[in-house]
Amino acid sequence: MPTMSDSTAQTPTGDPNYLVGLDLNGRRVVVVGGGTVAQRRLGLLIAAGADIHVISREVTPAVEAMASHGQVSVALRPYADGDLDGAWYAIACTDEPDTNAAVVAEAERRRIFCVRADVARLGTAVTPATARYDGLTLGVLASGQHRRSAAVRTALLEALQSGVVTDDSTPLTPGVALVGGGPGDPDLITVRGRRLLARANLVVADRLAPPELLAELGPDVEVIDAAKIPYGRAMAQEAINTALIEGAKAGKFVVRLKGGDPYVFGRGFEEVEACVEAGIAVTVVPGITSPISVPAAAGIPVTHRGVTHEFVVVSGHVAPDHPDSLVDWSALGRLRGTLVLMMAVERIEQFASVLIDGGRPSDTAATVIQEGTLRTQRVLRADLGTVAERVRAEGIRPPAIVVIGPTAGFSADADAAN
Ligand SMILES: C[S@@+](CC[C@H](N)C(=O)[O-])C[C@H]1O[C@@H](n2cnc3c(N)ncnc32)[C@H](O)[C@@H]1O
Repeated sequence: MPTMSDSTAQTPTGDPNYLVGLDLNGRRVVVVGGGTVAQRRLGLLIAAGADIHVISREVTPAVEAMASHGQVSVALRPYADGDLDGAWYAIACTDEPDTNAAVVAEAERRRIFCVRADVARLGTAVTPATARYDGLTLGVLASGQHRRSAAVRTALLEALQSGVVTDDSTPLTPGVALVGGGPGDPDLITVRGRRLLARANLVVADRLAPPELLAELGPDVEVIDAAKIPYGRAMAQEAINTALIEGAKAGKFVVRLKGGDPYVFGRGFEEVEACVEAGIAVTVVPGITSPISVPAAAGIPVTHRGVTHEFVVVSGHVAPDHPDSLVDWSALGRLRGTLVLMMAVERIEQFASVLIDGGRPSDTAATVIQEGTLRTQRVLRADLGTVAERVRAEGIRPPAIVVIGPTAGFSADADAAN
């Protein structure tokens, strides 16, 4: 029969590190070192509610900020034996190997688990590569191969985010999530948006919702293409509202996937109102909106210090002289900052001329970006006086964004800037 001492003396056959979740809430954790390694560890320790004490000759500005927010205490001095008194857990992450060794030695004496950042195997604990996802904490250890553990962690996280790995142990409550899908590139949806999309039973998608995101959905997910609902504008909206409400009432988790942000010229709030009126739980997930991200994809910042102190986003879905227009175009003509026009291709002649008439110089830079962030993106650089003619000559089509103002002449691409 093996005795207790026999079993403890065994040489481990695999990784000697046993993955465990420590409850550090309110417990003393001592971090010796205040550089970038400490900085990286502190965020999760703070989130765990640990009582954190940093001991270091100097600390990074980020660690200093954590101290000034009361998240950690900092002692600006060298480590001294006895500093681990009362600690449950310690991290030695100075850039002095002797100090790190001394911290590990004190920890060993006191039976406190201690990470040694410079030579992991000489500590008594190692930090796994971790990620948080929807209430889960993923931890990966790879026998000290940090790149491998980080790569696997990232792959697992992406698999969860994209729905390749599903976590359906806790079914979602039926209801509607109004999700901003971003400007078109499937990578530009938010993490939360993608997570909810991966768990949808029914997706009602807009014409501008990133199509590649729909291609990733499982075969059992019902997709309604809102662009194909065969009614006039108002009726189509009614039909969309009905599809959302009926779906949720049938016990489904419905994602209403929109282009950009649901609340930027997206009729998102109308859909929220309809759901609320029908007693359906609705959640809104903001998205990356096209009037900012599409110019950015073409290298154009909508603001730049010392150049613009404002940017205005305007819908061009009605003509300037239309009785329904709510836009003061002559006031916009007097602006010096950036003007971003959406849905403006059809009436670009009218917008350009009303702005020039309002006082905007005709040599003001005007750039048009069609299908921004997509592989098919086109960028047309002109000025206010020529933009309409160029749009027609080059056959620019919606969806497109028109940026007018000094920053419209900027480009992150050195050739285009010259
Ligand atoms: C009905 S609005 C929806 C805007 C969306 N909710 C947002 O936040 O970006 C549609 C207009 O957005 C602009 N737009 C959206 N995605 C675009 C893209 N990838 N490239 C260029 N323009 C885009 C175009 O002006 C298009 O006509």
